Amino acid sequence: MIEIKKIQNVDLDYLTYLLSTDEHNEEIFKVADEVRRKYVGTEVHLRAIIEFSNYCSQHCLYCGLRAENRNLNRYRMTEEEILERARLIAKLGIKTIVLQSGEDPYYTTERISYLITEIKKLDVAITLSIGERDFEEYKIWKELGADRYLMRHETASPELYAKLHPGDSFENRKAHLFELKRLGYETGAGCMVGLPGQTPYDMALDLAFLKELDADMIGIGPFIPNPDTPLANQGGGTLKDTLKMVALARIVVPTANIPATTALGSIDPFGRQMGLKCGANVIMPNLTPNPYRPNYSLYPGKICLFEKDTACVECTKAMIKGVGLVVGEGYGYRRKINIEE
Ligand code: SAM
Ligand code: SF4
Ligand code: FES
Repeated sequence: MIEIKKIQNVDLDYLTYLLSTDEHNEEIFKVADEVRRKYVGTEVHLRAIIEFSNYCSQHCLYCGLRAENRNLNRYRMTEEEILERARLIAKLGIKTIVLQSGEDPYYTTERISYLITEIKKLDVAITLSIGERDFEEYKIWKELGADRYLMRHETASPELYAKLHPGDSFENRKAHLFELKRLGYETGAGCMVGLPGQTPYDMALDLAFLKELDADMIGIGPFIPNPDTPLANQGGGTLKDTLKMVALARIVVPTANIPATTALGSIDPFGRQMGLKCGANVIMPNLTPNPYRPNYSLYPGKICLFEKDTACVECTKAMIKGVGLVVGEGYGYRRKINIEE
């Protein structure tokens, strides 16, 4: 029998042990599913994502959008194109719009402010996922109505973080996430699983960090090596390790909103369904319009690139029903309940 209290208390030795053996996986998945039903119910929330620019000034070693990658057709959507998409999403009845991009300074404080103001008129929640920006900008955008900010911590090992992000530090990423939280954003962190050199202990640190932050949203996906990056020849994260991290994250932060990520669906055709069965309660249909969508190329094998451009909405709804869960109708804010028994 696994010791649930030790998981909840993020006992690093115990988490490291669980992450080092597959002996208890089925039990961990079962407990995570129970915790999810108890604390967030059977609803799965849809978050429509618009990947509006693939320009990036950063150098993250794992990512296809990194500034150094010349094998990528770069694009920027105009404000009108983004708003047109947002209107379509609202019409389809989806209550959260995620605006995601590389770190692209073309989208100034004012441009993002304009998008927030216009999109809020559509009666939807807005999630920003545009990387590290000035603290002052976070404040302005929050006041204009942005609801959530998604910025994975990627790895909570300071050494590994520094290796993967030349010139940057985990301390700095942490400071941004705590500032977002302080400003009142629903704040999303999360990590990749199977990064080069990442150990079970490092992943235990990820879980401890998610608890320390009290992350409102937790995005966990496998690392998938991209041939156009310096990590081209490394191994990637496995399905079972990623599912185990999703499940443990659910037990550690019971009321968090946790997506069954696109990367999980990209390493296994049923990866997202399995994610939903072991703790995840969010899914992010891709609403990036064509011809741009295939160019948001973070890693090879990314799903949903060549379907009709609203197909993911029906597809994700069918997926949710297919695993016996319910499509969420509301904005899908984090549930506020006391988690002490
Ligand atoms: N630029 C913003 C940022 O970094 O927060 C948002 C976009 S970024 C592409 C979104 C996420 O993609 C990152 O947080 C990272 O975890 C994930 N990602 C990038 N490259 C990946 C890879 N090769 N395999 C799996 N996930 C990857
Ligand atoms: Fe840029 Fe985000 Fe990719 Fe890093 S992960 S290179 S910040 S798009
Ligand atoms: Fe995109 Fe299935 S979710 S096609």
